[in-house]
Amino acid sequence: MTTIPHPRFRIPVLGDVIGLDWTTPTQHEARVARELGGVYERRLGGSSMVVVGAADAAEQACDETTFSRILPGPGLYLRELAPTGLFTVRSSDPAWSQVRTALQPAFTQEAMRRYHAGMATVIDEMVEHLRGRAGERVSTHDLMTRLTLEIIAIAGFGYRSAGFDVPVDADQYLRAIATVLEWSSKEPNRLPLVGRIGAGARRADAFAALDAVQAPLIELVARRRRDGDTDTPDLLSALIPTDLPDAVLVDQAVTFIIAGHETTAALLEVALFYATEDPARQGPLRADAPDGAPAQSRYEDIARHRATGRFLRECLRLVPSLPGFFRIATADTRLGDYAIRRGTVAFVLALAAQRDRAAWGDDADVFDPEHFARGRRLGFYRPFGTGPRDCIGRAFATHEATFALARLTSAFDITDPDGGPLELVERATLRPARREVVFTPR
Ligand code: HEM
Repeated sequence: MTTIPHPRFRIPVLGDVIGLDWTTPTQHEARVARELGGVYERRLGGSSMVVVGAADAAEQACDETTFSRILPGPGLYLRELAPTGLFTVRSSDPAWSQVRTALQPAFTQEAMRRYHAGMATVIDEMVEHLRGRAGERVSTHDLMTRLTLEIIAIAGFGYRSAGFDVPVDADQYLRAIATVLEWSSKEPNRLPLVGRIGAGARRADAFAALDAVQAPLIELVARRRRDGDTDTPDLLSALIPTDLPDAVLVDQAVTFIIAGHETTAALLEVALFYATEDPARQGPLRADAPDGAPAQSRYEDIARHRATGRFLRECLRLVPSLPGFFRIATADTRLGDYAIRRGTVAFVLALAAQRDRAAWGDDADVFDPEHFARGRRLGFYRPFGTGPRDCIGRAFATHEATFALARLTSAFDITDPDGGPLELVERATLRPARREVVFTPR
C-alpha cells in the first residue's frame, strides 16, 4: 500500500510544525501540495488531516457517498459566535435543514429579481461617489467592503448602512465585524501554551464586538416579527413566518452579514486587480454589454454579461475567496493513490486544485477567462463548495458581482498607478493586500 507523504521534518508529539506559515497558511500549503505531489498528510499535535491539492483527488473528496462536510479549525470559533447560523450549524442539528429549507426559495436565481432594485440603488450610489473622486486614488478594499456591506444590508434586511462617504476605518460596525473575523481566524492558529497568553481578553473583545454586530439585528428581527412584515423584498422575509426562535433568526442575520460581504468583496477586489493588471482586459467586459449599450439596471441584462461572468469565474478559479473546505471520510475509501480510513479529515484546497495543471492544462496559473469558453472541458472548479452544504449565496454573489463589475467597467477606465504582483492576505478569506486604483469617467 502506498504511504501518504508528509512534510519532511516531522517531530515526535508535535508533528509537522516546522515550516508552518501562520500568516499565509493556505498559500503555503498550496506550495507544499505541489512539492509533495498534490496529496499529503499534515499532523499537528494529536490531530491529523489530509491536504488535497490535486484535482482528481479533490473530486473524490467531493463524492457524497464517501465524504461529507465537516467544520473543524477556525470554523469551530465561528460556531461559537453563531451556533445555529446556516454556515456553522452541524448538519445533524435539525436547525440546519429547517433553515436551509426555509431559505432556499429566497436564494434562487429568480429570487434575485426581488433584490435587484436594492442592489441597483447601491451600485448607482457607488458610481456617483466615484465620479466625485475622479482621478483620486481609491482603496479597492474600502470600496468593495462598503459596496458589499450596503448590498447585503438592503437585500438581506431592508436597511441601509453608513453609505460610501463614511470611511471604512471610521465605521464602528465594520470594525466590530473585523474584530470578530480576526479572532475566529487567528485564535486557532496560535501556538500551544505561549499562544494562550491573553486568550481570555481577546475572547472578551471578540464577544463584545459580536454584541455590537448583533444589537441592530436583534432589534430588527423583533420588529419585523411583531409587525409580521414579510412584504419587504429581502432575505429576512423568508424567515419571519417560520416558527424558528428569534435567536436562530439573529444567527442567520449575522451569517449573512459576514458570509455575504467578505467573500464577494474579496472576489471584486481580485477582479479589479486583474482588470487593471492589463487594462486591455476591460475592453471585452464593455463589449459584452447587451445591445452594445452600457450596463443598465435591468435584472434581465445581468446574466447576459457573459464576458464579465467568465472573467469573474476565472478570478474565483485562481483566487477562491474561501481557499478551501473540509470533508470527512464516511467510509474507508481512496484519495488519489492513497487508501483513506473512515473518519479521516480532508482539507480540499481549492486554491491548489483549481490550478492543477493535470486538469486545467499547462497555463493553469495564467489568468485567462477563456478557460471558461463555451464547450471547453473544465477541471476541478468548486469555489462555492460542494454537496448539500454548498454556498446558498452563489446566485446572490454572482448577480451582485457581475452587476457591479459591469457597471464599473462601463462607467470608468480603471487604472492601477502602482502596479506590482497580486499579494494575498488571509483572514478566513483570501483577499488582495491593500491596493489603490484610479477611476476615470468614460
Ligand atoms: C457556504 C463560498 C457568497 C452564504 C459557502 C461555502 C463556500 C462558499 C466555499 C462552503 C463552505 C464549506 O463547505 O465549509 C462563497 C463565495 C462567495 C460566497 C466564494 C462569493 C464570491 C455568499 C453570500 C452569502 C453566502 C453572498 C449570503 C448572502 C453562505 C452560507 C453558507 C455558505 C449561509 C453555508 C450553507 C450551508 O452550510 O448550508 N460559501 N460564498 N455566501 N455561504 Fe457562501
